[in-house]
Amino acid sequence: MHFQKILAQSVIGTCLILLCACGDGPSPPPAAEAASRALQPPDAALAAIYRRSCASCHTVAATGAPLTGDSTAWAPRMAKGMNTLVDNVVNGFGGMPPFGLCMDCDVAQFEALIEFMATGE
Ligand code: HEC
Repeated sequence: MHFQKILAQSVIGTCLILLCACGDGPSPPPAAEAASRALQPPDAALAAIYRRSCASCHTVAATGAPLTGDSTAWAPRMAKGMNTLVDNVVNGFGGMPPFGLCMDCDVAQFEALIEFMATGE
């Protein structure tokens, strides 16, 4: 029967939509996020700066920031050259506020932080 077939299809369709809707909650953090959280700059002073500024976004995928240690995500950024990257941090870039929230960082510290985040070392 044609009508029953349509009915069956729409019931299946509705179930599929409901299944999708139920699965719509916050997605589990990707592995890259967990990996990025485990990384710290080896230098203690730099690590302290990193923890109170850059890490709050660069270990959280939802911020849109390239994750620390995710060299694939960092490759096109690093290709811009260190001077451009430091300029973009100082001036703010996309979702990143000026100075990446480190108001007292100098250029050398920004360079070291970028190098660390791009490589994870
Ligand atoms: C409030 C969140 C936030 C903080 C804090 C933050 N960033 Fe970012 N950062 C971002 C986001 C978001 C992007 C990606 C912006 C885009 O591509 O639109 C980004 C991108 C970058 C880039 C790539 C810029 C480019 O030209 O592609 C560098 C370099 C960077 N951040 C360095 C840092 C450093 C160093 C710190 C700490 C001193 C820091 N960030 C702190 C959110 C943040």
